[in-house]
Amino acid sequence: MSKKIVITGGAGFIGSHVVRLFVNKYPNYQIFNLDCLTYAGNLENLKDIQKAPNYTFLKADINDAQQINKLFEQHAFDAVIHLAAESHVDRSITDPNAFIQTNVMGTANLLNAAKSLWKNDYTNKRFYHVSTDEVYGSLGETGFFLETTPYDPQSPYSASKAASDHLVRAYGNTYHMPFVITNCSNNYGQNQFPEKLIPLFIHNIKNNKSLPVYGDGKYTRDWLYVVDHARAIDTVFHSGKDGETYNIGGFNEWQNIELIHLLCTQMDQKLGRAAGTSAQLITYIKDRPGHDRRYAIDATKIKNELGWEPSVTFEEGLSLTIDWYLENESWLNNVTSGQYQSYYEQQYSK
Ligand code: NAD
Ligand code: TYD
Repeated sequence: MSKKIVITGGAGFIGSHVVRLFVNKYPNYQIFNLDCLTYAGNLENLKDIQKAPNYTFLKADINDAQQINKLFEQHAFDAVIHLAAESHVDRSITDPNAFIQTNVMGTANLLNAAKSLWKNDYTNKRFYHVSTDEVYGSLGETGFFLETTPYDPQSPYSASKAASDHLVRAYGNTYHMPFVITNCSNNYGQNQFPEKLIPLFIHNIKNNKSLPVYGDGKYTRDWLYVVDHARAIDTVFHSGKDGETYNIGGFNEWQNIELIHLLCTQMDQKLGRAAGTSAQLITYIKDRPGHDRRYAIDATKIKNELGWEPSVTFEEGLSLTIDWYLENESWLNNVTSGQYQSYYEQQYSK
């Protein structure tokens, strides 16, 4: 069946993988990538599909309600897959308002545009909101986040994502808008902006720069390969039930310092350096304020109800990721020039 789907934030890290998957897998769908191209958005991520007949890029800001309403009327979308967001915790600590604006108000603008367009006729319509496990807060040494875990966001980023999740559910409850929400664990993979742990450390190891580890390095994250997240979004979009939430994760917990040692070992091998060379770059620095200790997703529901599981192990995914960054030096050089330099100096000179 033919469908017009608008994917917001499609020029970003995860969004570009979702756009590619949908454009290639569903030639009958018209895929619209709506993105305003912040520092994190990069059309180079989609070079391989930019000329596909079922792909259209719409440069637009979700904070501009008028522009969003106009685009919804003009293209009459059947579905929204909403990924556009400010996404980096450290930036949310420095500038929370940008997060409140884009993540909360921007989501409200999209919900309102969909509501006006669909006018209570929700046949074959769907609003898919992509969220994070960080809305559940921080875990102690045991336990997992379930879909029923109460929200307890701790950073301006996670609070803004939690607020947007609540809004989506409220539109479902109040206006009967058909929605699904997924809350995913930390992603890694090709095209991730090098402000996040894994691409930042790949970049620094390659350039013999120090590896700034926050606090004692014993913070724990649950890592998922971005291509597997895109596959999960495809599964939930097509098979998930209206009004449901699905947690997405790979049962793949790593303490930061253990992950960094694995990364250093793989990088030493790939760069032909003696074992132990890259690990010498590890430098412990002042902790992130309000740093969540541990995230861990229980992804049983999506596995049992929809049959989704990750396709690669962490070691395989990490190796593919390092290879991509080593082979795509020009992508890294482009995104790490200009504004990024001043961000880096400000963030790590404290
Ligand atoms: P990203 O920062 O790489 O990309 C965000 C994209 O949104 C960029 O292309 C940017 O230009 C666009 N954007 C930002 N503000 C916009 C606006 N006002 N109007 C239009 N476009 C705008 O983020 P990501 O890591 O790809 O995350 C995508 C989504 O997935 C986010 O909603 C995030 O909360 C969620 N998520 C991310 C992770 C992760 O580990 N990265 C994990 C779980 C959930
Ligand atoms: P990050 O990639 O920013 O994702 P999130 O904060 O959304 O989990 O960070 C992952 C973990 O790595 C987190 O515990 C913070 C830590 N970290 C560092 O120790 N140093 C760094 O320079 C960065 C960016 C992150």
